[in-house]
Amino acid sequence: ASYDMGGHDTYMHKEICEQADAVDRVLRGRIDDRFSTVHLGGLNLDAREARSVRRVKILGCGTSYHAGLIGAQMIEELARIPADAEPASEFRYRNPVVDPDTLYIAVSQSGETYDVLAAVQELKRKGARVFGVVNVVGSAIARESDAGVYVHAGPEVCVVSTKCFTNTTVAFALLALHLGRIRDLSVADGKRIIEGLRKLPGQIEEILAQEAEIKKIAEEYADARSMMFIGRVRGYPVAREASLKLKEVSYIHAEAYPASELKHGPLALIEPALPTVAIVPDDDLLEKNRAAMEEIKARSGRILAVAHQEQDKADRTIVVPKNEDELDPILMGIPLQLLAYHTALALGRDIDKPRNLAKSVTVE
Ligand code: G6P
Repeated sequence: ASYDMGGHDTYMHKEICEQADAVDRVLRGRIDDRFSTVHLGGLNLDAREARSVRRVKILGCGTSYHAGLIGAQMIEELARIPADAEPASEFRYRNPVVDPDTLYIAVSQSGETYDVLAAVQELKRKGARVFGVVNVVGSAIARESDAGVYVHAGPEVCVVSTKCFTNTTVAFALLALHLGRIRDLSVADGKRIIEGLRKLPGQIEEILAQEAEIKKIAEEYADARSMMFIGRVRGYPVAREASLKLKEVSYIHAEAYPASELKHGPLALIEPALPTVAIVPDDDLLEKNRAAMEEIKARSGRILAVAHQEQDKADRTIVVPKNEDELDPILMGIPLQLLAYHTALALGRDIDKPRNLAKSVTVE
């Protein structure tokens, strides 16, 4: 790939910094203020069909799978349709029950990942309805899907995905809002979500403006051999993706756990040498998350919180701007992309091309 790096030293840095523009693109021309909903041109789904969807199953690999985990929560919260995400390869090999009332959604940056494509083909062969949430226009998965939403993140060159992850979560918010407004989401809630969506680009700029501070934190934590990432409900997929990002680009081992499961095992690992990154949104689970941080502190664990306000239980807090509860996951991972980037930089890693990894895996 030979896209201009635009003054950045790596594509990863360039792509992290482009996210406000990228989110602007995924929103552009899609918001319908008159009905407090969104138009998704490529959806081909009339209201009656949308109402007949009983479940949503999202399939993807790697970072796209993690974006799907967030998407599933948004669809379940806003459209009240049971939804979950699963790695495409697992789905494909377990001989799943394919249900005609389920909407299947394949997520892929490249649109060429073999495991996702094969899952789509198997689903189609069995008569299922498959949508694509894809970045690359005209790619194999986009072509094989019945309909879909383009993510419009623009070209992503760095092997590890950043801006496409963010844009995919926004695309899912649009889809969830669209399905929600056909079903039981009120006009007022539709409006609230639209206002939240419009705030995203500016809020992303606010997060990126903290880069110097995040770099310092990364340098403080770069000597860790392993890191624990915790979150609850909306924060958990954010923790999963942040842990993947750190592993991929810095080679530091990292593990993500639901904060609620800490006491069922991983608490045994907590000591000063194993720092924890806690995703602490200011929502109805704030007190629960504070209690989890307290348990970690009691075992002398170091804590970096990503939160909407300074956390007294944490050693360090990265404060991100608050959006609507349902949209918070879109923003909370962004400072952790910078954390992974600066950790990798401090350790002298090959940031755009981590060892053993490929940008897209087009073979089995
Ligand atoms: C590879 C890349 C990951 C990516 C995954 C899925 O493993 O290294 O960064 O998330 O494939 O790629 P896709 O293009 O389908 O989103």
